[in-house]
Amino acid sequence: MSNPEVFPIPEHVADNANIDLASYEALYRLSIDDPEGFWKEEAKSIDWIQPFKIVKETNFNPVNPTIRWFADGTLNASVNCIDRHLTAKANKPAIYWQGDAPQESRTVTWGELADQINRFANVLKDLGVQKGDVVTIYLPVIPEVIVAMMACVRIGAIHSVVFSGFSAEALANRINDAGAKILITADEGRRGGRVVPLKRNADAAVEHQPTITDVVVIRRTGASVPFTMGRDHWFDELITQANPWCEPAVIGAEDPLFILYTSGSTGKPKGLVHTTGGYLVHTGTSWRNIFNWHEGDVFWCTADVGWVTAHTYKIYGPLLNGATSVLFEGIPTWPDTSRWWSIIEQYKVNIFYTAPTAIRSLMREGEAPVRQHDLSSLRILGSVGEPINPEAWHWYHRVVGGGRCPIVDTYWQTETGAVLLVPLPGAIPNKPGYAAKPYFGIRPVLTNSQGTVLEGQAEGNMCFADSWPAQARTILHDHERFVRTYFSQFPGYFFTGDGASRDHEGYYRISGRVDDVINVSGHRLGTVELESAISSHPAVAEAAVVGYPHEIKGQGVFAFVTLKATVEENEALRHEIVNLVRSRIGPIASPDQIQWAPALPKNRAGKILRRILTRVAANEFENFGDTSTVADPAVIDEIVRRRRQSSHHTVAL
Ligand code: PRX
Repeated sequence: MSNPEVFPIPEHVADNANIDLASYEALYRLSIDDPEGFWKEEAKSIDWIQPFKIVKETNFNPVNPTIRWFADGTLNASVNCIDRHLTAKANKPAIYWQGDAPQESRTVTWGELADQINRFANVLKDLGVQKGDVVTIYLPVIPEVIVAMMACVRIGAIHSVVFSGFSAEALANRINDAGAKILITADEGRRGGRVVPLKRNADAAVEHQPTITDVVVIRRTGASVPFTMGRDHWFDELITQANPWCEPAVIGAEDPLFILYTSGSTGKPKGLVHTTGGYLVHTGTSWRNIFNWHEGDVFWCTADVGWVTAHTYKIYGPLLNGATSVLFEGIPTWPDTSRWWSIIEQYKVNIFYTAPTAIRSLMREGEAPVRQHDLSSLRILGSVGEPINPEAWHWYHRVVGGGRCPIVDTYWQTETGAVLLVPLPGAIPNKPGYAAKPYFGIRPVLTNSQGTVLEGQAEGNMCFADSWPAQARTILHDHERFVRTYFSQFPGYFFTGDGASRDHEGYYRISGRVDDVINVSGHRLGTVELESAISSHPAVAEAAVVGYPHEIKGQGVFAFVTLKATVEENEALRHEIVNLVRSRIGPIASPDQIQWAPALPKNRAGKILRRILTRVAANEFENFGDTSTVADPAVIDEIVRRRRQSSHHTVAL
C-alpha cells in the first residue's frame, strides 16, 4: 500500500480528548522507560482490597517465560465492575438490551444488575461452586450473560464463555477440557428470526460430561424444553429464592479470572487463561482511552459474547468505567438491512465498535439503509478482528460516520487480552488500514524469518518485546504449548502469528496470519481443526484446508479433499461434508468451497505443501516458488486444472 491518505483528528475529538498527541507521546515514553511507574499509576483505576507492592515480574525467556503483574495485590472483579458504581448510578441504565425482534427490549439499571449478580453468586455457591471452579456459559447476547459472568467472578469461580453458535460437540470439547462443574444456558436463543436450540445442544454436550453436576437454564423464549430432574434448574426460580447479598471473595491478582478458547495451529482449541489484576487494569484504562469515553456516552460493541472482543471491550471495559452500553442479540440484516442503524438512532449511540466483515456485508446493501436514520450521535467508530480493507474503511468513515468520526482500528488477540496497537482518537491521525501505533507499555518489533529484528520501514513477523498486564498467562493444562507457540520461535519476543509492515512514520499495518490459522469473518479457525472434521467423514481419505480471499468474510474456507479410492465424487457428498463440519464445529466453520483432489501436493517427507494450495485457492497459478521438493509435480498440474475449471462456474456451497 503506497502512501495512504491521512485523516487529521477532527476538532470535536481533539477538543475533549482523554489523550492528545502531547500526552500520548509523554505517557508512551514514560510507559517504556518506567513501566512499573506507569502501570502503578494506571492501577489506581482499580479498587484493591490489599494494595500490591510489586508491579511487574516479567520476562520473555524462550523456555521459561514469567508473566506476573501486581502479584501480591488482592481485589474482586465484580466489586470493580458493579458495586463501586452503585452510589451514583443505582437507578441509571447499565444496559440497553435489544432482542432479535425489534419489539423486544429491556433496560437494566446498575442496581438491578447488582441484585441479580449477588443472588446468582449465592445460587452458584449453593450448587457447590467454589473458588477456582470452572463454570461454562453457553448463552445468547442477553443481560443474563453479564449476570452469570459477574456472579462467577464475585465468588472467584472462573468463567468459560462458549460462543452460542458452536455445536454441541464443540461445546462438549470445551467443557471437557476445562473440567467445568456447572453449565449455564438458555432454553433457546434467537438470531435473524430463527430459533437456536441451545438447551438441546447443551443436553447433547453434557450427556457424557461427568464433571457437570448442574445445568442452569435461563428462560429466554419460554419454549418447552427437555428437563433432567435433579440436574437442571430454572434460573428465575433459583434467583428469586436466593439471598440478595453475597460477600465478594478476596481474589489474588494472579488468580484466574476467565478461560477463553480459541483456535490454533493444531486440531485442539486452546483455553487461554487470563488472570484478575493485570487484566482489569489494562482493560478498564485502555477501553476509556481507545474510545475517548466520557460520562454519559452510550457505547455499543456488536461482538458476540463468546469472543475476546466482547469480554474485554463490550463487558469488562464498560463495566469497569460505569458506562452505559447497548447489548443486541440479533444480526445486522434482520428484519431488514437497516437494523443496526435504527438501534444507533434509537439509543443515540456515541461510540460504535464492530468488525470489517460486517461493514463489507452492509456496504453491499448500499447507502440508503444508513441514510434512513439519524446517526448524528456517533462520535467514534471502532474496528477489530481482521485487517480492514481501504474500501470498507472509507465507506465506514464517510457513510456511517458522516466523515466526522475517527476510526480506531484496534489490533489485539485472545492471547493479548487487551489492545496492543491502536490510533488513539485524540492523538493519532488515521491512515485507512493501519492499526497505527503502540498502546502504552507496548513494544512492537518486526522480525524476519531468521529472527533478525528489522528497523525502520519494514515488513515481517509481528512480535512484542515486553509484557503488558492483560497478557494471557498460560494455556489451560498445556503450559508447554503456550511457551512453544508464543515464545520459542523468536527468542526474547512474544510472537503473535501475524505478519505486519511498518511505514516511514512508524505506523503499523497488519497483513494477516502467517501460521495455520485463518480468519473467517473475524473469527479464528484452525485449518487442522477443519481438516480433522472433514477427514472424519468415512468417504474422505485426506483433506487440506486453506484460506482464500473472500469478498465479505475476508477469508473463506477452501477445502481440497481426497476421497477414498472406492468413492465416486458427487454433489451429495459435498453437502454431507459441509453438514459434518457444521455439526462438529459450528456454522461459522462451513467450507465455502470444496474441490476434489485425486492427490494433495506433498514434499518427499509427506508434508502437505499448503503454500501451493493457498495460491491455487486464490486463483494464482504462477510463481509457486521452489517446487523442487514436491514429490510428484503432476499432482499440482491436476489441482490447477480443476481449479481453473471450477472458477468458471460457481461451486460455492
Ligand atoms: O490476525 C489478527 C486478527 O485477529 C487475530 C486475533 O483473533 P482473536 O484472538 O479471535 O481476537 C480478535 C479480536 C481481538 C489476530 O491475530 N486481528 C485482530 N484485530 C485486528 C486483526 N488484524 C488486523 N487488524 C486488526 N485490528
